[in-house]
Formats: sequence, C-alpha cells, structure tokens
Amino acid sequence: MRVPMIAGNWKMNTTVSEAVELVTKMRHELDGIDNVDKVICPPFVSLAAVGELIKGSSIKLGAQNIYFEEKGAYTGEISPLMLAELCEFVIIGHSERRQYFNETGEIINKKIRAALKVGLKPILCIGERLEENEAGKTEEVVTEQLRSSLAGIDYSSGLIIAYEPIWAIGTGKAATGEQANETIGLIRHNIAKLYGNRIAQDVRILYGGSVTAANATEFISQPEIDGGLVGGASLKADQFLSIVRQTSEIRR
Ligand code: PGA
Repeated sequence: MRVPMIAGNWKMNTTVSEAVELVTKMRHELDGIDNVDKVICPPFVSLAAVGELIKGSSIKLGAQNIYFEEKGAYTGEISPLMLAELCEFVIIGHSERRQYFNETGEIINKKIRAALKVGLKPILCIGERLEENEAGKTEEVVTEQLRSSLAGIDYSSGLIIAYEPIWAIGTGKAATGEQANETIGLIRHNIAKLYGNRIAQDVRILYGGSVTAANATEFISQPEIDGGLVGGASLKADQFLSIVRQTSEIRR
C-alpha cells in the first residue's frame, strides 16, 4: 500500500514571519493526521524557521528547487548539501522552472542525481502544455519528460512523481479525476518499463494543478493517484488542512 502524500508548494509566497504564522495555524491539526504524509515546501529563506516549528512532529519539509553542484562559485544558488541539513524533500522540474528559468531535461536529470546523492527525496514534476494536450500528445510528452529526467538514474525509494498538466496550474481549471487517473496510470506503466513492475507499484505519483478543498476528493479517490501537490490552496491553512483530512478519510 502506497502511503498518500499531500505536499504544499508555497512558490514565491510568504515572508519568514508570514510562513511562521501559516505553519503555526495548522501544525497541531496536521500533526494529528497519521495516515498521510504531509509535506510543506516554503521558500528557501523560511526553511530553517519552519523546520524549527515542526521539529518533533509528523510534518515534513521540502524545498522548491536545488542546484546540481555541491559548492563553489555559483552566486545565488542553493546546493544539495545545504538543503540536506534542512529538509527531506525537494521539488524538481516544476513547470514554472522549466518555463521561466529554462530548465531542460538535462538540467533536471542533473538535479535529481544531485538530490539523491545527498539523500534528498525528489518530487519530480512532469506535465504537458495546453497545445500538447489538445493535440493528443499528453502521453508522448510525459513519457519523454520522464525518460530524460531519469535517464541513467538507478531507482531510489525516495523518488516521488507529480503529474501537473501545465494548463491546470494556477488557472482554476483542474483536470478531471478520470483524466488525471488515466495519465498517471500511463506514467506508472512507463516507470514499469524503466524499473520493473514491482517498483512501479511502489512509486507514489501525485496530481497537481488547481487542487482545492472542493475538488480534492475527486482526485484522491482515484486508484492511481497517491496524493496532491497543492499550490494556491496550500497558502490557506483551512484549505490545506481540509485536503489532508479528506485524503486521510478516503484512505483509512
Ligand atoms: P496550483 O499549483 O495548485 O496553484 O495550481 C500547483 C503547483 O504548481 O504545484
């Protein structure tokens, strides 16, 4: 049985004091929900403060990005070694990184390797653009993204995949549960081709893109979907808590 996961991607939102306030509002209740992995991914500058607040709880911490070199003259970048001291997970290959910061499959592959090397668990994001979806190319696109991101990388049990159709991110236009379930099934099939069926059955694959408290059940109740990567709704304590609670109830 795959343990469901709900991860909150705060993106470039919250100052350190706002991050502290948001976590303080939800940590007690989140901690009490035991059959779901709860991950919070605040901006880099808040990792330490949030880490202190959730110390000793069941809430886990993730970063939103990483650089692939361990140290050196890379002004402004954050290395795997720095993150490994602060958190357990790291989002890699988010479509906003691909789109605004020109991250290619090759860069994402290096980042995954760098994360795994220091024991960080990557949440690898893949997903198609609207034109690709409309042209019926979803399977082709996600298959290629998966292949290039994981090329030459041995399976690690820390790996998590998030299927995030780009047209559903931050748009309020979520995929349907069936659509997401179907594509996630295809992704699992491709993982089986890469790593074998047993591993494919173990890998957690999340859905992301306009997940809210109002539609979470539609996704979580699908057999292939192991949880959600939640953007906008993770910035509201009551919404995020409700999504985690719904997940807990469905999977109990
Ligand atoms: P959203 O973002 O929930 O605001 O659509 C999801 C994501 O980008 O991870």
